[in-house]
Amino acid sequence: MSTTTTTSPSPVAAPAPVPETDTETASVRAARTRSAEIERRIARDPSMFRVLTGDRPTGALHLGHYLGTLANRVRLQDAGVDVVLVVADYQVITDRDETGNLPAVVREVVLDYLAAGIDPGRSTVFAHSSVAALHQLMLPFLSLVTVAELERNPTVKAEAVDAAGRQGRGMSGLLLTYPVHQAADILAVHGNLVPVGADQLPHLETSRTVARRFNQRFSAAQPYFAEPEPLLADTPTVLGNDGAKMSKSRGNVLELRADEDETAAYLRRARTDSQRHITFEPDTRPEVASLLRLGAHFVGTTPEALADTIGAAGAGRLKEVVTEAVVEGLRPLRARRRSLAADGPAVVGEVLARGAQRATVLAEGTLTDVRELMGMTYL
Ligand code: TRP
Repeated sequence: MSTTTTTSPSPVAAPAPVPETDTETASVRAARTRSAEIERRIARDPSMFRVLTGDRPTGALHLGHYLGTLANRVRLQDAGVDVVLVVADYQVITDRDETGNLPAVVREVVLDYLAAGIDPGRSTVFAHSSVAALHQLMLPFLSLVTVAELERNPTVKAEAVDAAGRQGRGMSGLLLTYPVHQAADILAVHGNLVPVGADQLPHLETSRTVARRFNQRFSAAQPYFAEPEPLLADTPTVLGNDGAKMSKSRGNVLELRADEDETAAYLRRARTDSQRHITFEPDTRPEVASLLRLGAHFVGTTPEALADTIGAAGAGRLKEVVTEAVVEGLRPLRARRRSLAADGPAVVGEVLARGAQRATVLAEGTLTDVRELMGMTYL
């Protein structure tokens, strides 16, 4: 992930700027410039920011989550930003009929957070369903967007097609309105910063629209909601060992909780290419590039430098080096995870209870303000 030459493999290393590509749209470029500015403001005064982000609890987190978002959240927390994480259990049913074994899955996700370095003393972790006021905010928010706008959201469109293709089902109302639900997550706690990948920028656009329109309609004199800003995470996609993007639905993930043998077996099966000499060329050699990034992240070097140390030794050596880097790099996380898991269910339960309590205070405060601004106070 990182292209800096830090010596520490820890997740707190600052993100390196990723070179712009020609294919990047103007809005992504603008967000990138803005994100660099926000990073400078975080360094000066982290107390200005509250991050709201989260995950759908559909399975334990994997290496793609770690490099893509989890390490970045821990970095922001350690920089002094107030980090609020929603375990979005209601989002599990956007595109499926069953909730699965939520208590078990939610527990795995929270263990992954804690093992990665999320500190419940500083950060807030809560489950969607335990904060009622958040969902009530969705009602007025739904009045601020049109169905046509929701249908144009590229992420909703993509997921709808995916859902239809997979199960021959139509788009649920919850899936269609999920960007508004996400706006409720963010605005309920007055989150003003949302770390996103470039592909999620449209989601955040809905949140910004909701904040802006609410202000226009109900709080014209003084804007009540700040428009949340995206913080672009410059983390390239981690590929699974089949060469496709690592994702649970593809079944090609290496879970963070996997042990050393499983890690080694997984990486041994990683796809490479027929060129013997190892070089870092993301456009033409994506599989090799992904392995180099992975290894470089955990060793604390650049993919280019790592490629140079392997060179003619070839793909076999590359896999050995990457396996060792990942095993060593994740050793503290995995040790922490095992010890937390051995402590029994109370640890996770307490984290979620405490998180729900704080998120409820924030969301109820917001809901009270919103009802007041809308003229819905009767006492
Ligand atoms: N939709 C996100 C995911 O699938 C999780 C999420 C829920 C989220 N609410 C959010 C992310 C608000 C950012 C902001 O992983």
